Amino acid sequence: MPDHQSDYVFALCNPGSEKALKLEAEMMALGWRSGYQRRGFVTFKADAVFSLHSLDVKIACARRLCLSLGKTSTREEAERLVAEHKIHHARYFERKMQGVAGDGQPEVGEIIGTVVELGPTEFWAGLHRHAPFLSPHPAGDSGIVMAADSPSRAWLKLEEAVRFFDLEFTEKDIVVELGCAPGGVVLALLQRGISVIGVDPAKMAEVVLTSTIQNRQEAPSNRPWFYHCRKPAALASKRDLGQGVTWFMSDMNQSPEVVLKECARFKAMAPSIRGVLITLKLTEIEQVADKQTWFTALRGMGFKTIRLQQLSVHHKEFALLAMK
Ligand SMILES: C[S@@+](CC[C@H](N)C(=O)[O-])C[C@H]1O[C@@H](n2cnc3c(N)ncnc32)[C@H](O)[C@@H]1O
Repeated sequence: MPDHQSDYVFALCNPGSEKALKLEAEMMALGWRSGYQRRGFVTFKADAVFSLHSLDVKIACARRLCLSLGKTSTREEAERLVAEHKIHHARYFERKMQGVAGDGQPEVGEIIGTVVELGPTEFWAGLHRHAPFLSPHPAGDSGIVMAADSPSRAWLKLEEAVRFFDLEFTEKDIVVELGCAPGGVVLALLQRGISVIGVDPAKMAEVVLTSTIQNRQEAPSNRPWFYHCRKPAALASKRDLGQGVTWFMSDMNQSPEVVLKECARFKAMAPSIRGVLITLKLTEIEQVADKQTWFTALRGMGFKTIRLQQLSVHHKEFALLAMK
């Protein structure tokens, strides 16, 4: 077999998402047929041989897609198969598909070897090429742990999404977040120096109150600040947003249809919005097969780069990213 070709690819995913991953690949009509599978690990075969380009497909349930170089019974043998590349390590451990910290971060275009440990005598070796919006971390898992002072797990979801997609913010950014209470995302953004308009009828946690301003129209020049628009999203107006909003975020526990409808309304009220980051909460993870409907809605709002991704910290949730 010539270099960087294989009869198989393998995907690393959240344990429990294997079925959704296979359904998603089937709905995408890739011609991929699933084969050998373990928790957090699914192999695929197709009629034609796979190359690194075959991995350009965007499968939301796959945190990492690799050209498979095969299975070995020791780590050393697997490492030998990818020895000429930077090597990432992954393992199924404590019921999670984990990245092993300490492996180097890749450059865009660099080919990375991944060695996956599925059991004491089961290792797999694979290759992928690093690209924008692909996690630079082994197994698409940054290993970040929750901040002790965060009032919710949403802090972790925001921080993992920022790391996975390698998002950049500046202190000039203003984020509007729908469903902001009790304030994990707001805390993470404030810690990054980013001002936030939070929309939610529910109460915020004490930890974000020190940065709170009472009047959006009189936002101070010293940033970051937090303005709580204490209403349901549907009642928020252009006046609540003011000028200069650059990001739309949502963590509302509402259906994708409701969230995307609000996203379109907010984008129309604040055309300066350049990025969207939504935590989509699905009742059934298999609903991921509806993703084209969500992409069409975002394209209709003028967004060009769109990614849907299940993150290591998610359960029945996905991060939906859209950028101009
Ligand atoms: C998972 S919690 C959000 C966690 C929050 N992002 C954080 O960082 O801590 C979901 C929130 O969505 C809010 N929510 C649900 N429907 C909403 C709506 N129509 N408008 C605004 N907020 C809504 C709820 O009040 C709840 O606080």
